[in-house]
Amino acid sequence: MFNSSLSLDQAPPLKIPLRFFVTSPIFGIMAGLFILGFVSSLESRASLEVVVFTHFITIGFLSMTMLGAMFQMLPVTAGVTLKHQQIIAPLVHGLLSSGLLIFAYAFYNYQSTLMSVALVMLLSAFLVFIVATALTLKNAKNVTPTIKAFIGALTSLLIALLLAGYLTLSHANTSLSEHHQAILYTHIVFSLLGWVSMLIIGVSYQVIPMFYVAESYPNFYTKYAIKVIFALLVSLGFALFIKNNQLYLLLKVFAALMLADYAVTTISLLLNRKRKITDTTTYYWYFAMSMLLAAVVVSLANEWLHISQLNTLAVVIFIYGFAMSVITGMMYKIVPFLVWFHLTNEGFINMPTMNELIGKKTTTVQFALHIVALLSLATLIFDSSFQMAAGMAIVLSNALLLFNLIKGSRIYFTKQGLEKMNF
Ligand code: HEM
Repeated sequence: MFNSSLSLDQAPPLKIPLRFFVTSPIFGIMAGLFILGFVSSLESRASLEVVVFTHFITIGFLSMTMLGAMFQMLPVTAGVTLKHQQIIAPLVHGLLSSGLLIFAYAFYNYQSTLMSVALVMLLSAFLVFIVATALTLKNAKNVTPTIKAFIGALTSLLIALLLAGYLTLSHANTSLSEHHQAILYTHIVFSLLGWVSMLIIGVSYQVIPMFYVAESYPNFYTKYAIKVIFALLVSLGFALFIKNNQLYLLLKVFAALMLADYAVTTISLLLNRKRKITDTTTYYWYFAMSMLLAAVVVSLANEWLHISQLNTLAVVIFIYGFAMSVITGMMYKIVPFLVWFHLTNEGFINMPTMNELIGKKTTTVQFALHIVALLSLATLIFDSSFQMAAGMAIVLSNALLLFNLIKGSRIYFTKQGLEKMNF
Protein backbone atom coordinates (compact mmCIF):
# COMPACT_ATOMS: atom_id res chain seq x y z
CA MET A 1 0.00 0.00 0.00
CA PHE A 2 2.80 2.33 0.74
CA ASN A 3 5.74 0.88 -1.22
CA SER A 4 8.30 2.93 -3.03
CA SER A 5 6.26 3.32 -6.24
CA LEU A 6 3.57 5.07 -4.24
CA SER A 7 3.27 8.75 -3.40
CA LEU A 8 3.85 8.94 0.32
CA ASP A 9 4.00 12.72 0.20
CA GLN A 10 0.29 12.64 -0.61
CA ALA A 11 -0.53 10.77 2.64
CA PRO A 12 -3.25 12.54 4.67
CA PRO A 13 -2.74 13.55 8.32
CA LEU A 14 -3.01 10.58 10.72
CA LYS A 15 -6.18 11.80 12.36
CA ILE A 16 -8.13 11.48 9.10
CA PRO A 17 -8.09 7.67 8.77
CA LEU A 18 -7.71 7.15 12.53
CA ARG A 19 -11.04 8.73 13.49
CA PHE A 20 -12.81 6.17 11.25
CA PHE A 21 -10.72 3.24 12.55
CA VAL A 22 -11.29 4.06 16.20
CA THR A 23 -15.04 4.60 15.71
CA SER A 24 -15.62 1.16 14.17
CA PRO A 25 -15.12 -0.92 17.37
CA ILE A 26 -17.39 1.58 19.19
CA PHE A 27 -20.18 0.59 16.79
CA GLY A 28 -19.07 -3.04 17.28
CA ILE A 29 -19.65 -2.59 21.04
CA MET A 30 -23.07 -1.03 20.32
CA ALA A 31 -23.93 -4.02 18.10
CA GLY A 32 -23.09 -6.36 21.01
CA LEU A 33 -25.11 -4.29 23.50
CA PHE A 34 -27.99 -4.26 21.05
CA ILE A 35 -27.89 -8.08 20.89
CA LEU A 36 -27.83 -8.23 24.71
CA GLY A 37 -30.82 -5.91 25.06
CA PHE A 38 -33.01 -6.50 22.06
CA VAL A 39 -32.13 -9.44 19.78
CA SER A 40 -33.33 -12.72 21.27
CA SER A 41 -33.13 -14.58 17.97
CA LEU A 42 -31.36 -14.30 14.64
CA GLU A 43 -33.68 -16.91 13.16
CA SER A 44 -35.73 -14.47 11.10
CA ARG A 45 -33.54 -12.12 9.09
CA ALA A 46 -36.61 -10.07 8.24
CA SER A 47 -37.02 -8.87 11.85
CA LEU A 48 -36.22 -5.20 12.32
CA GLU A 49 -33.91 -5.89 15.28
CA VAL A 50 -31.79 -8.04 12.99
CA VAL A 51 -31.75 -5.30 10.33
CA VAL A 52 -30.51 -2.82 12.97
CA PHE A 53 -27.85 -5.24 14.24
CA THR A 54 -26.73 -5.96 10.65
CA HIS A 55 -26.22 -2.26 9.90
CA PHE A 56 -24.37 -1.61 13.16
CA ILE A 57 -21.82 -4.03 11.74
CA THR A 58 -22.05 -3.36 7.98
CA ILE A 59 -22.17 0.45 8.18
CA GLY A 60 -20.79 1.10 11.68
CA PHE A 61 -17.88 -1.31 11.56
CA LEU A 62 -17.19 -2.39 7.96
CA SER A 63 -18.06 0.72 5.91
CA MET A 64 -16.67 3.05 8.59
CA THR A 65 -13.24 1.38 8.43
CA MET A 66 -13.35 0.98 4.65
CA LEU A 67 -13.96 4.72 4.17
CA GLY A 68 -11.12 5.51 6.58
CA ALA A 69 -8.80 3.17 4.66
CA MET A 70 -9.79 4.81 1.36
CA PHE A 71 -9.09 8.30 2.72
CA GLN A 72 -5.61 6.95 3.40
CA MET A 73 -5.05 4.83 0.32
CA LEU A 74 -6.63 6.83 -2.51
CA PRO A 75 -4.18 9.73 -2.46
CA VAL A 76 -1.24 7.44 -1.79
CA THR A 77 -2.09 4.86 -4.46
CA ALA A 78 -3.39 7.20 -7.15
CA GLY A 79 -0.81 9.92 -6.51
CA VAL A 80 -3.37 12.70 -6.02
CA THR A 81 -4.52 14.60 -2.94
CA LEU A 82 -8.16 14.42 -1.99
CA LYS A 83 -9.25 18.05 -2.13
CA HIS A 84 -10.71 19.56 1.06
CA GLN A 85 -10.08 16.33 2.98
CA GLN A 86 -9.84 18.25 6.26
CA ILE A 87 -13.50 19.21 5.86
CA ILE A 88 -14.79 16.16 4.00
CA ALA A 89 -13.44 13.54 6.45
CA PRO A 90 -15.13 14.92 9.60
CA LEU A 91 -18.29 15.66 7.60
CA VAL A 92 -18.54 12.09 6.24
CA HIS A 93 -17.64 10.63 9.64
CA GLY A 94 -20.20 12.79 11.47
CA LEU A 95 -23.03 12.12 9.02
CA LEU A 96 -22.32 8.39 8.96
CA SER A 97 -22.15 8.04 12.76
CA SER A 98 -25.19 10.16 13.58
CA GLY A 99 -27.15 8.83 10.57
CA LEU A 100 -26.57 5.27 11.74
CA LEU A 101 -27.71 6.03 15.30
CA ILE A 102 -30.91 7.58 13.94
CA PHE A 103 -31.34 4.62 11.53
CA ALA A 104 -31.12 2.22 14.50
CA TYR A 105 -33.61 4.21 16.59
CA ALA A 106 -35.98 4.69 13.64
CA PHE A 107 -36.07 1.03 12.59
CA TYR A 108 -36.27 -0.32 16.12
CA ASN A 109 -39.24 1.94 16.88
CA TYR A 110 -40.56 1.87 13.29
CA GLN A 111 -40.74 5.67 13.03
CA SER A 112 -41.21 6.68 9.43
CA THR A 113 -40.07 10.32 9.63
CA LEU A 114 -36.84 9.36 11.37
CA MET A 115 -36.27 6.59 8.80
CA SER A 116 -36.27 9.27 6.07
CA VAL A 117 -33.98 11.53 8.15
CA ALA A 118 -31.53 8.65 8.65
CA LEU A 119 -31.68 7.82 4.95
CA VAL A 120 -30.82 11.39 3.95
CA MET A 121 -27.91 11.52 6.41
CA LEU A 122 -26.45 8.15 5.44
CA LEU A 123 -26.87 8.80 1.73
CA SER A 124 -25.24 12.23 2.11
CA ALA A 125 -22.28 10.70 3.97
CA PHE A 126 -21.61 8.12 1.27
CA LEU A 127 -22.38 10.46 -1.64
CA VAL A 128 -20.08 13.24 -0.41
CA PHE A 129 -17.30 10.66 -0.26
CA ILE A 130 -18.09 9.14 -3.67
CA VAL A 131 -18.27 12.54 -5.42
CA ALA A 132 -15.04 13.76 -3.77
CA THR A 133 -13.31 10.54 -4.79
CA ALA A 134 -14.59 10.67 -8.37
CA LEU A 135 -13.36 14.28 -8.72
CA THR A 136 -9.99 13.31 -7.27
CA LEU A 137 -9.58 10.26 -9.47
CA LYS A 138 -10.12 12.36 -12.61
CA ASN A 139 -6.53 13.55 -12.11
CA ALA A 140 -5.11 10.20 -11.03
CA LYS A 141 -1.51 9.63 -12.06
CA ASN A 142 -1.60 5.82 -11.64
CA VAL A 143 -4.73 3.78 -12.29
CA THR A 144 -3.50 0.65 -10.53
CA PRO A 145 -5.52 -2.59 -10.14
CA THR A 146 -6.27 -1.42 -6.58
CA ILE A 147 -7.76 1.84 -7.88
CA LYS A 148 -9.80 -0.13 -10.43
CA ALA A 149 -11.10 -2.30 -7.58
CA PHE A 150 -11.98 0.86 -5.62
CA ILE A 151 -13.94 2.17 -8.62
CA GLY A 152 -15.80 -1.18 -8.86
CA ALA A 153 -16.48 -1.14 -5.10
CA LEU A 154 -17.79 2.45 -5.14
CA THR A 155 -20.00 1.79 -8.18
CA SER A 156 -21.46 -1.23 -6.39
CA LEU A 157 -21.97 0.89 -3.28
CA LEU A 158 -23.84 3.46 -5.34
CA ILE A 159 -26.21 0.77 -6.67
CA ALA A 160 -26.65 -0.70 -3.17
CA LEU A 161 -27.50 2.78 -1.83
CA LEU A 162 -30.06 3.43 -4.54
CA LEU A 163 -31.79 0.18 -3.57
CA ALA A 164 -31.40 1.01 0.14
CA GLY A 165 -33.27 4.24 -0.57
CA TYR A 166 -36.14 2.30 -2.11
CA LEU A 167 -36.21 -0.22 0.77
CA THR A 168 -36.14 2.45 3.46
CA LEU A 169 -38.82 4.61 1.82
CA SER A 170 -41.02 1.50 1.38
CA HIS A 171 -40.79 0.97 5.14
CA ALA A 172 -41.32 4.66 5.86
CA ASN A 173 -44.51 4.60 3.74
CA THR A 174 -45.42 1.10 5.05
CA SER A 175 -46.00 -0.09 1.49
CA LEU A 176 -43.80 -3.04 0.56
CA SER A 177 -44.20 -3.86 -3.15
CA GLU A 178 -44.13 -7.31 -4.75
CA HIS A 179 -40.53 -6.55 -5.79
CA HIS A 180 -39.40 -5.82 -2.23
CA GLN A 181 -37.72 -9.21 -1.73
CA ALA A 182 -35.85 -9.05 -5.07
CA ILE A 183 -34.68 -5.50 -4.31
CA LEU A 184 -33.60 -6.53 -0.81
CA TYR A 185 -31.52 -9.42 -2.20
CA THR A 186 -29.99 -7.13 -4.84
CA HIS A 187 -29.13 -4.61 -2.08
CA ILE A 188 -27.43 -7.42 -0.15
CA VAL A 189 -25.60 -8.71 -3.25
CA PHE A 190 -24.23 -5.28 -4.26
CA SER A 191 -23.37 -4.17 -0.74
CA LEU A 192 -21.67 -7.37 0.42
CA LEU A 193 -20.28 -8.98 -2.75
CA GLY A 194 -19.70 -5.65 -4.51
CA TRP A 195 -18.79 -2.91 -2.05
CA VAL A 196 -17.23 -5.07 0.67
CA SER A 197 -15.60 -7.87 -1.37
CA MET A 198 -14.20 -5.70 -4.16
CA LEU A 199 -12.68 -3.26 -1.72
CA ILE A 200 -11.08 -6.06 0.29
CA ILE A 201 -9.76 -7.66 -2.91
CA GLY A 202 -8.33 -4.31 -4.10
CA VAL A 203 -6.64 -3.65 -0.77
CA SER A 204 -5.18 -7.16 -0.67
CA TYR A 205 -3.49 -6.58 -4.07
CA GLN A 206 -1.39 -3.99 -2.20
CA VAL A 207 -1.04 -5.28 1.36
CA ILE A 208 -0.35 -8.99 0.78
CA PRO A 209 2.87 -8.43 -1.25
CA MET A 210 3.93 -5.41 0.82
CA PHE A 211 3.31 -6.32 4.44
CA TYR A 212 3.88 -10.09 4.13
CA VAL A 213 6.66 -10.05 1.49
CA ALA A 214 4.59 -12.42 -0.64
CA GLU A 215 4.28 -12.76 -4.42
CA SER A 216 1.80 -10.46 -6.17
CA TYR A 217 -1.59 -11.79 -7.22
CA PRO A 218 -1.46 -13.37 -10.70
CA ASN A 219 -1.80 -10.87 -13.57
CA PHE A 220 -4.94 -12.51 -14.81
CA TYR A 221 -6.41 -11.83 -11.42
CA THR A 222 -5.53 -8.18 -11.10
CA LYS A 223 -6.69 -7.53 -14.68
CA TYR A 224 -10.02 -9.33 -14.79
CA ALA A 225 -11.34 -10.35 -11.34
CA ILE A 226 -13.14 -7.08 -10.57
CA LYS A 227 -14.70 -6.81 -14.05
CA VAL A 228 -15.93 -10.42 -13.88
CA ILE A 229 -17.36 -9.99 -10.37
CA PHE A 230 -19.12 -6.76 -11.37
CA ALA A 231 -20.64 -8.38 -14.48
CA LEU A 232 -21.81 -11.30 -12.32
CA LEU A 233 -23.44 -8.96 -9.79
CA VAL A 234 -25.34 -7.02 -12.46
CA SER A 235 -26.52 -10.31 -14.00
CA LEU A 236 -27.48 -11.66 -10.56
CA GLY A 237 -29.58 -8.54 -9.93
CA PHE A 238 -31.24 -9.00 -13.31
CA ALA A 239 -31.96 -12.71 -12.65
CA LEU A 240 -33.50 -11.81 -9.29
CA PHE A 241 -35.63 -9.11 -10.84
CA ILE A 242 -37.03 -11.32 -13.63
CA LYS A 243 -37.36 -14.14 -11.05
CA ASN A 244 -35.39 -16.61 -13.18
CA ASN A 245 -34.23 -19.12 -10.57
CA GLN A 246 -32.08 -21.25 -12.84
CA LEU A 247 -30.13 -18.28 -14.19
CA TYR A 248 -29.78 -16.98 -10.62
CA LEU A 249 -28.38 -20.30 -9.44
CA LEU A 250 -25.95 -20.56 -12.35
CA LEU A 251 -24.62 -17.03 -11.73
CA LYS A 252 -24.44 -17.64 -8.00
CA VAL A 253 -22.27 -20.73 -8.59
CA PHE A 254 -19.91 -18.64 -10.77
CA ALA A 255 -19.72 -15.83 -8.20
CA ALA A 256 -19.11 -18.41 -5.44
CA LEU A 257 -16.29 -20.00 -7.46
CA MET A 258 -14.65 -16.60 -8.03
CA LEU A 259 -14.70 -15.77 -4.33
CA ALA A 260 -13.49 -19.26 -3.40
CA ASP A 261 -10.65 -18.91 -5.88
CA TYR A 262 -9.70 -15.54 -4.35
CA ALA A 263 -9.63 -17.14 -0.88
CA VAL A 264 -7.48 -20.07 -2.03
CA THR A 265 -5.11 -17.77 -3.97
CA THR A 266 -4.66 -15.51 -0.94
CA ILE A 267 -4.01 -18.47 1.39
CA SER A 268 -1.43 -19.90 -1.02
CA LEU A 269 0.32 -16.50 -1.43
CA LEU A 270 0.57 -16.23 2.36
CA LEU A 271 1.77 -19.82 2.79
CA ASN A 272 4.53 -19.23 0.22
CA ARG A 273 5.54 -15.79 1.53
CA LYS A 274 9.26 -15.13 1.81
CA ARG A 275 9.28 -13.73 5.36
CA LYS A 276 7.73 -16.49 7.42
CA ILE A 277 7.09 -14.34 10.50
CA THR A 278 3.65 -15.05 11.91
CA ASP A 279 1.72 -12.44 13.86
CA THR A 280 -1.93 -11.93 14.80
CA THR A 281 -2.63 -10.25 11.47
CA THR A 282 -1.50 -13.38 9.60
CA TYR A 283 -3.87 -15.48 11.73
CA TYR A 284 -6.60 -13.01 10.92
CA TRP A 285 -5.97 -13.35 7.16
CA TYR A 286 -5.96 -17.16 7.25
CA PHE A 287 -9.09 -17.19 9.39
CA ALA A 288 -10.89 -14.65 7.17
CA MET A 289 -10.14 -16.59 3.99
CA SER A 290 -11.27 -19.88 5.58
CA MET A 291 -14.49 -18.15 6.62
CA LEU A 292 -15.01 -16.86 3.08
CA LEU A 293 -14.74 -20.46 1.87
CA ALA A 294 -17.15 -21.59 4.60
CA ALA A 295 -19.69 -18.88 3.66
CA VAL A 296 -19.51 -19.94 0.01
CA VAL A 297 -20.01 -23.63 0.89
CA VAL A 298 -22.95 -22.97 3.27
CA SER A 299 -24.65 -20.61 0.82
CA LEU A 300 -24.31 -23.05 -2.10
CA ALA A 301 -25.31 -26.08 -0.02
CA ASN A 302 -28.49 -24.30 0.97
CA GLU A 303 -29.62 -24.03 -2.64
CA TRP A 304 -30.28 -27.78 -2.30
CA LEU A 305 -31.04 -28.06 1.43
CA HIS A 306 -33.46 -25.08 1.68
CA ILE A 307 -33.06 -24.52 5.44
CA SER A 308 -33.82 -20.84 6.11
CA GLN A 309 -31.32 -20.55 8.99
CA LEU A 310 -28.50 -21.63 6.67
CA ASN A 311 -29.00 -18.47 4.58
CA THR A 312 -28.59 -16.40 7.73
CA LEU A 313 -25.58 -18.50 8.72
CA ALA A 314 -23.89 -17.79 5.36
CA VAL A 315 -24.48 -14.03 5.78
CA VAL A 316 -23.19 -14.09 9.39
CA ILE A 317 -20.06 -16.04 8.39
CA PHE A 318 -19.47 -13.67 5.47
CA ILE A 319 -19.93 -10.46 7.46
CA TYR A 320 -18.50 -11.40 10.86
CA GLY A 321 -16.15 -14.23 9.89
CA PHE A 322 -14.73 -12.96 6.60
CA ALA A 323 -15.13 -9.18 6.25
CA MET A 324 -14.76 -8.17 9.89
CA SER A 325 -11.73 -10.45 10.32
CA VAL A 326 -9.83 -9.10 7.30
CA ILE A 327 -10.58 -5.55 8.35
CA THR A 328 -9.52 -6.07 11.98
CA GLY A 329 -6.31 -7.78 10.86
CA MET A 330 -5.57 -4.91 8.49
CA MET A 331 -6.15 -2.27 11.15
CA TYR A 332 -3.60 -4.06 13.36
CA LYS A 333 -1.07 -3.67 10.52
CA ILE A 334 -2.03 -0.24 9.21
CA VAL A 335 -2.45 1.73 12.47
CA PRO A 336 1.06 0.99 13.86
CA PHE A 337 2.52 1.51 10.38
CA LEU A 338 0.88 4.93 10.01
CA VAL A 339 1.92 6.01 13.50
CA TRP A 340 5.48 4.91 12.85
CA PHE A 341 5.45 6.51 9.37
CA HIS A 342 4.15 9.90 10.55
CA LEU A 343 6.48 10.04 13.56
CA THR A 344 9.49 9.14 11.42
CA ASN A 345 8.49 11.79 8.88
CA GLU A 346 8.29 14.36 11.65
CA GLY A 347 11.84 13.47 12.63
CA PHE A 348 11.30 11.43 15.78
CA ILE A 349 13.69 8.62 16.63
CA ASN A 350 14.04 6.23 19.58
CA MET A 351 10.48 5.08 19.41
CA PRO A 352 9.07 1.56 19.70
CA THR A 353 9.10 -0.57 16.54
CA MET A 354 5.86 -1.07 14.65
CA ASN A 355 5.40 -4.49 16.27
CA GLU A 356 5.89 -3.15 19.79
CA LEU A 357 3.26 -0.44 19.40
CA ILE A 358 0.31 -2.72 20.15
CA GLY A 359 1.94 -5.96 21.31
CA LYS A 360 1.17 -9.58 20.40
CA LYS A 361 -0.46 -10.68 23.67
CA THR A 362 -3.50 -8.40 23.62
CA THR A 363 -4.08 -8.81 19.87
CA THR A 364 -4.00 -12.62 20.27
CA VAL A 365 -6.52 -12.47 23.13
CA GLN A 366 -8.69 -10.17 20.99
CA PHE A 367 -8.44 -12.63 18.08
CA ALA A 368 -9.61 -15.47 20.35
CA LEU A 369 -12.53 -13.34 21.59
CA HIS A 370 -13.45 -12.53 17.99
CA ILE A 371 -13.68 -16.26 17.18
CA VAL A 372 -15.81 -16.86 20.29
CA ALA A 373 -18.08 -13.98 19.20
CA LEU A 374 -18.51 -15.47 15.73
CA LEU A 375 -19.21 -18.96 17.12
CA SER A 376 -21.79 -17.72 19.61
CA LEU A 377 -23.43 -15.48 17.00
CA ALA A 378 -23.67 -18.45 14.62
CA THR A 379 -25.18 -20.58 17.40
CA LEU A 380 -27.70 -17.84 18.19
CA ILE A 381 -29.21 -18.47 14.74
CA PHE A 382 -30.32 -21.92 15.96
CA ASP A 383 -30.61 -21.47 19.73
CA SER A 384 -31.88 -18.29 21.39
CA SER A 385 -30.29 -19.23 24.72
CA PHE A 386 -27.02 -17.92 23.22
CA GLN A 387 -28.20 -14.29 23.30
CA MET A 388 -26.12 -13.42 26.40
CA ALA A 389 -23.03 -15.28 25.21
CA ALA A 390 -23.11 -13.70 21.75
CA GLY A 391 -23.77 -10.18 23.07
CA MET A 392 -21.04 -10.41 25.72
CA ALA A 393 -18.46 -11.86 23.33
CA ILE A 394 -19.15 -9.14 20.74
CA VAL A 395 -18.88 -6.39 23.38
CA LEU A 396 -15.66 -7.80 24.84
CA SER A 397 -13.88 -8.47 21.55
CA ASN A 398 -14.71 -4.98 20.25
CA ALA A 399 -13.80 -3.32 23.55
CA LEU A 400 -10.39 -5.00 23.42
CA LEU A 401 -10.00 -4.00 19.77
CA LEU A 402 -10.75 -0.39 20.73
CA PHE A 403 -8.22 -0.62 23.57
CA ASN A 404 -5.58 -2.05 21.20
CA LEU A 405 -6.13 0.63 18.55
CA ILE A 406 -5.89 3.40 21.15
CA LYS A 407 -2.78 1.76 22.61
CA GLY A 408 -1.20 1.57 19.14
CA SER A 409 -1.88 5.18 18.21
CA ARG A 410 -1.62 6.97 21.59
CA ILE A 411 2.10 7.54 21.24
CA TYR A 412 1.51 9.83 18.26
CA PHE A 413 -0.56 12.20 20.36
CA THR A 414 1.73 12.05 23.40
CA LYS A 415 4.93 12.30 21.39
CA GLN A 416 6.50 15.08 23.45
CA GLY A 417 8.44 12.44 25.39
CA LEU A 418 10.08 11.08 22.27
CA GLU A 419 13.49 12.27 21.25
CA LYS A 420 13.47 14.58 18.22
CA MET A 421 16.19 14.34 15.58
CA ASN A 422 18.52 17.28 15.39
CA PHE A 423 18.77 18.28 11.72
C1 HEM B 1 -27.68 4.38 3.20
C2 HEM B 1 -27.28 3.23 3.71
C3 HEM B 1 -28.19 2.03 3.88
C4 HEM B 1 -29.52 1.99 4.13
C5 HEM B 1 -30.47 3.15 4.32
C6 HEM B 1 -29.89 0.58 4.20
C7 HEM B 1 -31.18 0.12 4.40
C8 HEM B 1 -31.55 -1.22 4.50
C9 HEM B 1 -32.88 -1.68 4.79
C10 HEM B 1 -34.09 -0.78 5.01
C11 HEM B 1 -32.84 -3.03 4.84
C12 HEM B 1 -33.97 -3.98 5.22
C13 HEM B 1 -34.97 -4.15 4.16
C14 HEM B 1 -36.04 -5.14 4.55
O1 HEM B 1 -35.75 -6.18 5.18
O2 HEM B 1 -37.17 -4.86 4.22
C15 HEM B 1 -31.49 -3.43 4.57
C16 HEM B 1 -31.03 -4.73 4.56
C17 HEM B 1 -29.71 -5.08 4.49
N1 HEM B 1 -28.64 -4.23 4.25
FE1 HEM B 1 -28.72 -2.23 4.09
N2 HEM B 1 -28.79 -0.18 4.00
C18 HEM B 1 -27.72 0.66 3.80
C19 HEM B 1 -26.41 0.31 3.58
C20 HEM B 1 -25.94 -0.97 3.64
C21 HEM B 1 -24.56 -1.33 3.51
C22 HEM B 1 -23.42 -0.33 3.23
C23 HEM B 1 -24.49 -2.68 3.67
C24 HEM B 1 -23.28 -3.58 3.63
C25 HEM B 1 -22.04 -3.20 3.63
C26 HEM B 1 -25.84 -3.17 3.89
C27 HEM B 1 -26.19 -4.51 4.08
C28 HEM B 1 -27.48 -4.96 4.27
C29 HEM B 1 -27.81 -6.35 4.55
C30 HEM B 1 -26.82 -7.51 4.67
C31 HEM B 1 -29.20 -6.41 4.70
C32 HEM B 1 -30.03 -7.63 5.05
C33 HEM B 1 -30.29 -7.53 6.51
C34 HEM B 1 -30.90 -8.73 7.08
O3 HEM B 1 -31.31 -9.61 6.36
O4 HEM B 1 -31.00 -8.74 8.30
N3 HEM B 1 -26.70 -2.11 3.88
N4 HEM B 1 -30.72 -2.31 4.36
